[in-house]
Amino acid sequence: MLVFALSAALAGARPTAGRASPRMLAVSDTSQLAQLAGMTVLSIDSGNLDVVREYAHTGFITDATTNPLFVSQAGLSGDAVYAAMVDEAVAYAQVRASGDEAVSLAMDRLAVNLGLQISKLVRGYVSTEVDVRLSFDVEQSLARARRIIAMYEEAGVPRSRILIKLAGTWEGMLTAEQLQREGIDVNITLVFAFIQAVVAAQRGARLISPFPGRVLDWHKARGAGPTFAPAEDPGVVLCSQIYAYYKKHAHATICMPASWRPSRGSAPEFAIDEIVALAGSDRMTIPPALLQQLAASEDPLQRVLEPKAAAAACTIDALGDGKVDEALFRSMMAADGCGPDKLAEGIKAFVADTERLDAAIRAKFEK
Ligand SMILES: *[C@@H]1O[C@H](CO)[C@@H](O)[C@H](O)[C@H]1NC(C)=O
Repeated sequence: MLVFALSAALAGARPTAGRASPRMLAVSDTSQLAQLAGMTVLSIDSGNLDVVREYAHTGFITDATTNPLFVSQAGLSGDAVYAAMVDEAVAYAQVRASGDEAVSLAMDRLAVNLGLQISKLVRGYVSTEVDVRLSFDVEQSLARARRIIAMYEEAGVPRSRILIKLAGTWEGMLTAEQLQREGIDVNITLVFAFIQAVVAAQRGARLISPFPGRVLDWHKARGAGPTFAPAEDPGVVLCSQIYAYYKKHAHATICMPASWRPSRGSAPEFAIDEIVALAGSDRMTIPPALLQQLAASEDPLQRVLEPKAAAAACTIDALGDGKVDEALFRSMMAADGCGPDKLAEGIKAFVADTERLDAAIRAKFEK
């Protein structure tokens, strides 16, 4: 049995780099975490470099991501490791731009600084978000994405390691299409509706991130449930449908669910319900606390999603004659209900994180 060292103490998302003496946890190669990693490529959802490092060392984690919350937490933490990244970002921007332009450059630079460190810890993709305030602006999103990629490449990390994260708006889809033409891979995030997944694939996005947990939240808030058999959980149903549609219509786009809730109620052992119900999905993003729960269980894990069977069972025809247009996208989003609600809410939350960081960086420039 292989035994890996894991930190059990680091489940929080708040960056606290440089802490020594993590508690150790054994992860066996028969654990649910190992079983899942054998069928689904796993990514960790944490902005804490120590946490990313420890889970990467287990060999079960391939990718990692930053997001506005993690970047903002890093920027505001005051921890020496992150403070050095902020100082570098501010100094970098100060000599290259001024005013608002310098602030936005410093924010992108900080995200890249964090991403560069993460790229040394995992062997797969590292996602970096384009300023979420630009989610409805194709031209500006393109410019920022290209600039982020240029900074990575200048630091020696090729574009093949990076995913540019864009919100799943119509403009995000058009931005993705152009970036993919330029050889820049995109992660379309905040996917809550089937039509978003269809359009992202038609426009060639490398990867999408649907959020089963938040889809479940939306349905529960409207009186559904309150508990579901995991296979009938609306978030699980959405992700399974997307997976099957992609396999049936030979879309290479990776379906990578993230955001998890218990389907069957609040008992702690139900926290991984949606993960277990989507085992076999191309990829998944999992936060440290749930990775730990999977690591602690030796129960057998059944593969649920399998490409051939899913393709054969999918009854949904290709939508929109090859390419869904803007009118069809918007009308199907409106009809979905959950899609536009949760997309707006997700953007709003990331905007708040971004604004906090913006204010902190601005204060640095004014010193
Ligand atoms: C893509 O973005 C989502 C949402 O932020 C994230 O959870 C996921 O880990 C990202 N994927 C990769 C491979 O970085």
